[in-house]
Amino acid sequence: MLLQSCVAALTLGLAAHAQEVIATAGLIQNNSTSASTRLRYDNGTYGPAIEEVHYYYDQWPIGIAVASDGRIFTTYTRGDYDYTLGVIVNETAEAPYPNAALNLSPDQLNTTWNGIPFGSSNSTAFISVQAVYITPNTSTRPETLWVVDTGRPTVHNAQGEPSMPYAVPGGPKLMAISLANDTIYETFTFPADVHYPDSYLNDVRFDLRANVSGTSGSGYAILVDSSNEGRPGFIMLDLGTGESWRRLTQDRSVLRGDEDVPVYQGHTFYFRQKGSPTGWQQEGLDGIQLTPDGKTLYYSPLSTSRLYSIPTVNLRERDTNPLAELNARANVSDHGQRGGDANGFEGDSNGLIYQLMPTQNAIFYYDQADGQTHPFVRDPRIIWPDGASIGADGYIYMNINQLPYQPDWNNGVDQRQHPGAILRAKLPNGGTKVTSLYA
Ligand SMILES: *[C@@H]1O[C@H](CO)[C@@H](O)[C@H](O)[C@H]1NC(C)=O
Ligand SMILES: *[C@@H]1O[C@H](CO)[C@@H](O)[C@H](O)[C@H]1NC(C)=O
Ligand SMILES: *[C@@H]1O[C@H](CO)[C@@H](O)[C@H](O)[C@H]1NC(C)=O
Ligand SMILES: *[C@@H]1O[C@H](CO)[C@@H](O)[C@H](O)[C@H]1NC(C)=O
Ligand SMILES: *[C@@H]1O[C@H](CO)[C@@H](O)[C@H](O)[C@H]1NC(C)=O
Ligand SMILES: *[C@@H]1O[C@H](CO)[C@@H](O)[C@H](O)[C@H]1NC(C)=O
Ligand SMILES: *[C@@H]1O[C@H](CO)[C@@H](O)[C@H](O)[C@H]1NC(C)=O
Ligand SMILES: *[C@@H]1O[C@H](CO)[C@@H](O)[C@H](O)[C@H]1NC(C)=O
Ligand SMILES: *[C@@H]1O[C@H](CO)[C@@H](O)[C@H](O)[C@H]1NC(C)=O
Ligand SMILES: *[C@@H]1O[C@H](CO)[C@@H](O)[C@H](O)[C@H]1NC(C)=O
Repeated sequence: MLLQSCVAALTLGLAAHAQEVIATAGLIQNNSTSASTRLRYDNGTYGPAIEEVHYYYDQWPIGIAVASDGRIFTTYTRGDYDYTLGVIVNETAEAPYPNAALNLSPDQLNTTWNGIPFGSSNSTAFISVQAVYITPNTSTRPETLWVVDTGRPTVHNAQGEPSMPYAVPGGPKLMAISLANDTIYETFTFPADVHYPDSYLNDVRFDLRANVSGTSGSGYAILVDSSNEGRPGFIMLDLGTGESWRRLTQDRSVLRGDEDVPVYQGHTFYFRQKGSPTGWQQEGLDGIQLTPDGKTLYYSPLSTSRLYSIPTVNLRERDTNPLAELNARANVSDHGQRGGDANGFEGDSNGLIYQLMPTQNAIFYYDQADGQTHPFVRDPRIIWPDGASIGADGYIYMNINQLPYQPDWNNGVDQRQHPGAILRAKLPNGGTKVTSLYA
């Protein structure tokens, strides 16, 4: 019975299809031989010209930061790579920064305790750097390269498949490197009730002004915990006292989208990790950006189309106010959908919130003035824009790393093709780096 109804359905399907072909035959337009007849097509491009700045032939990059003197710093999560923080040397080469010794060697990245693998607890050298961010020279700090070390390398399990061990306090950290003398001058680590073993430090932003309410007067940092294991949220850090606390952990605005199937270069994308069943890309809180007045933080989980914001006063509020977390959750704004998943964010002096859009090969921006997301630049070479950084020259620089083609997402098969790249585009309306938060 079951089999027969299947056959019947198949026959009907074929009949319908044949009918459709007959019905439209007279309307099919063959290729025109006339030069004046050209069908409109989408050339995949709009916005300012994309310029090619650098080519990666060795390690695939993640984060990027551009200094006032034009130096470009880049990160590589590890793994097997020789180093995790680098500086661009010329058009085709990079070097470990500030030196090779501070980049722990691959055999020092993890430990084993009671047979369970963990990340290294080394708090003085780099384990796996995810993000970098540069704040300008101020009266109290030199121009600083802030280094976000997850403390969680990717190692190979007994089956030879990639896996990410839990973090140990000390390993996950925020380090400050003076760009005047290329030396680490400050390090912040996190207690185990703020940075969980399954936390993953993904990005960071700063407000260094002395007069910000709820801080000790030496500024504060907002870090993204993107925890793929499912406990994403914000980690807040007072740079004067070193105290840290969490906000919006597992609030619905930081959680990954449900069974998300993004489209990259026109192809539907399911998550195919070797040794695991086919599933979905699942990543919570990822992109963040402060407005130039420091009052609002925009953010978004990676595998959703929604943009959110929260007044920063609610993030700074400490647990000494027992209602701090309730008030924060009540004050989240949902700005609706933007038309695709977004990866990292950046922001310019005009207050535009740039969002890297891997599903559109594009960068969009949200404009607070009209409450809408707009197209900025699109180009077929933008194959997974990862980190982005605005330089003093008014260009936005982005790393291109072809992430959807990496082996860890494709049953172990590496479909990336060298080179990766740094691309840049000129910002609209004289936009440049935000400087207002760093007096
Ligand atoms: C298109 O080509 C087919 C096959 O050569 C021909 O039968 C048909 O008439 C053509 N259609 C038009 C609109 O010229
Ligand atoms: C139409 O043009 C395309 C591209 O040049 C070609 O691949 C295709 O065979 C042509 N079709 C016909 C019916 O001539
Ligand atoms: C692509 O199409 C757009 C819109 O028609 C046009 O402005 C742009 O110049 C085209 N770009 C290229 C590279 O052809
Ligand atoms: C770039 O730097 C690398 C490493 O220092 C060197 O081998 C290579 O020749 C340089 N390339 C150019 C074009 O200068
Ligand atoms: C690091 O992890 C790998 C793979 O799990 C393991 O073989 C190695 O023994 C670990 N290293 C240490 C020092 O525990
Ligand atoms: C951390 O790594 C650095 C660089 O290899 C090394 O000098 C230092 O002794 C390590 N610290 C600990 C606690 O192992
Ligand atoms: C950094 O800023 C201070 C004043 O805030 C100034 O005295 C110093 O010269 C600046 N340093 C550099 C390298 O620009
Ligand atoms: C480098 O600069 C930092 C910050 O200004 C300072 O604390 C440190 O002493 C300097 N280190 C060296 C080696 O000059
Ligand atoms: C919500 O944020 C505003 C600032 O935009 C602040 O004045 C207000 O106190 C916040 N509400 C709560 C309940 O925290
Ligand atoms: C805080 O300081 C900045 C400069 O650092 C200034 O622009 C701003 O007006 C000050 N805000 C308040 C509330 O005093």
